[in-house]
Amino acid sequence: MKVIVTENYQEMSQKAAEIIIGIVKNNPNAILGLATGSSPIGTYQNMIKDHKENGTSYKSVKTVNLDEYVGLTADHDQSYAYFMRTNLFDSIDIDLANTNLPCGSAPDAKAECDRYNALLATMQQDVQVLGLGSNGHIGFNEPGTPLDSVTHLVDLTENTIKDNSRLFASIDEVPRQALSMGIKNIMQAKSIVMVVSGKNKAQAVKGMVQGEITTELPASVLQLHPFVTVICDKDAASLL
Ligand code: F6R
Repeated sequence: MKVIVTENYQEMSQKAAEIIIGIVKNNPNAILGLATGSSPIGTYQNMIKDHKENGTSYKSVKTVNLDEYVGLTADHDQSYAYFMRTNLFDSIDIDLANTNLPCGSAPDAKAECDRYNALLATMQQDVQVLGLGSNGHIGFNEPGTPLDSVTHLVDLTENTIKDNSRLFASIDEVPRQALSMGIKNIMQAKSIVMVVSGKNKAQAVKGMVQGEITTELPASVLQLHPFVTVICDKDAASLL
């Protein structure tokens, strides 16, 4: 696991974007595994800037996202589908037909997970972008999730509901469930880039990098992946 400590969020975002842009330039048909949340927003902004200034093209790129809230349709402004369009897809030349997320409003969650797993079996991510939950989750794989898990229906923990409530009008509006790639789906990526910022992530970063590999801290399993780059700002790295 390679750990890069940056001065701040901006530098973290720039470094992560450079890696992803490099992969796309090298392989215009690259498959990008993407994440939502506050952590990758700056990364996506840097990718958009580079697309506009340098013309890096996403025309043949395909994407698979980590997760989606259950019960929200793709046009709901808190859905991750909406997040991806507004924070990245609408500002680059990607074909929306090449972008994939679990469908949070599918009537049969189990069937939707099966569909997503079948899709992922045909789409090995050249790079998987990750954020880190303050409880050590990756995707919505909460503590206790088996390391061989695939896309599944998740009951979000109180901790995650509280963390994510900052983006909703009130905590009552935060969905209680999500569909998430499993840890096995994440680990199939050829490479992984994680972006982490802020003091509230410092304990999880320490456990992930220096602690034992345990399902109690799902991100610790990344120690077993051969090509992981963790890019964290000084605050997130403060306990290392
Ligand atoms: C998002 C995701 C989550 C977040 C994590 C950190 O698609 O899968 O694991 O990456 O909860 O969220 P932020 O970046 O908002 O602190």
